[in-house]
Amino acid sequence: QELQMNLEQIEKGGYDHFMLKEIFEQPDVITDTYRGRLHANEGIIQMSGVEDNLEKFLNAERIIIVACGTSWHAGLVAEYILEEFTRIPVEVEYASEFRYRNPIINSKDVVIAISQSGETADTMAAIKLAKEKGAFVYGVCNVVGSSISRETHAGSHTHAGPEIGVASTKAFTTQITVLIMMALRLAKAKGTLSKTDFHRYLQELEIIPEKVKEALETNDKAKEIATIFKNSHNCLYLGRGYNFPVALEGALKLKEISYIHAEGYPAAEMKHGPIALIDERMPVIVIAPKQGHYDKIVSNIQEIKSRSGIIIAVVTKGDTQVRGLADHIIEIPETSDALSPLITTIPLQLLSYHIAVLRGCNVDQPRNLAKSVTVE
Ligand code: G6P
Repeated sequence: QELQMNLEQIEKGGYDHFMLKEIFEQPDVITDTYRGRLHANEGIIQMSGVEDNLEKFLNAERIIIVACGTSWHAGLVAEYILEEFTRIPVEVEYASEFRYRNPIINSKDVVIAISQSGETADTMAAIKLAKEKGAFVYGVCNVVGSSISRETHAGSHTHAGPEIGVASTKAFTTQITVLIMMALRLAKAKGTLSKTDFHRYLQELEIIPEKVKEALETNDKAKEIATIFKNSHNCLYLGRGYNFPVALEGALKLKEISYIHAEGYPAAEMKHGPIALIDERMPVIVIAPKQGHYDKIVSNIQEIKSRSGIIIAVVTKGDTQVRGLADHIIEIPETSDALSPLITTIPLQLLSYHIAVLRGCNVDQPRNLAKSVTVE
């Protein structure tokens, strides 16, 4: 028993929980994920799974992404990135919905299945269905040798290493890293991104781990904010564009580990419902980096303010406009809009973590949840 406990202590590498360790591993594992694939100076992205099947991707009339949970959120981020960079139409579906609804799918479709564990039953069933219908199926899995990585025609592993905390963190950011590289490689082949932009994104991706490291410096701030809001009953997360899926993921992280009810919304949709919930007891976490739809987000913040909502804003370092409106701000380093989910998601992970710890929750093994869901 004691030996077991010591072993776990060692595995946690000095952190109180696996989740916190895994959050802090992100700069390293993102680097591991792009190592050998991203060659920024040469202007090359090399991913054998994509290279070997380039024609299939280039001839694809559509890309359909299937996944569950956090991996589904990575799929949503990928939808924005793939469409923007490659101009291939992309759909993202919950694997569980896809498999039960007789979807229209054929040999001109490329299906990308995203899964940390590579064992999720619904995702597996969606893959089998897509294969039956003749689609080419590409896997983005973390666990090498997993069922999904064996069942798919080809794929790219994320190199996040073992993820023990039930709430997914480093798997999410490494999935996004893989999908960004895929989008860039395909954009190059299709000529849908200018040379300048292509090179700029490669350079930016290469230094992203440094920026993630900087974003991790928000840990103290996240803890301080967590202390204030730990007893909230509800939380709203808002983001636009690339950061809309980050809002969904932020809300999911909070629900999963702290049991606080949280919802993520595209900021502009607020006026179609959630605005009715806003009062002085409703913390609203707004993802408002300088790049993207900044002005629009500022006016969303004003709408919340005028209804006495409490605003916690994730902003780019040096921001002045939102600072004047928000009750609390968390500053993150600047990056381009498309890569920003890799940065904006960090303080949200930390915020959920600290709130859950302060509430005395079992962070690594939240009630009712499993790390991999092998039942339907
Ligand atoms: C479970 C886990 C989530 C995960 C989801 C999908 O619900 O608790 O963290 O995002 O399954 O898992 P997968 O292994 O397919 O990414």
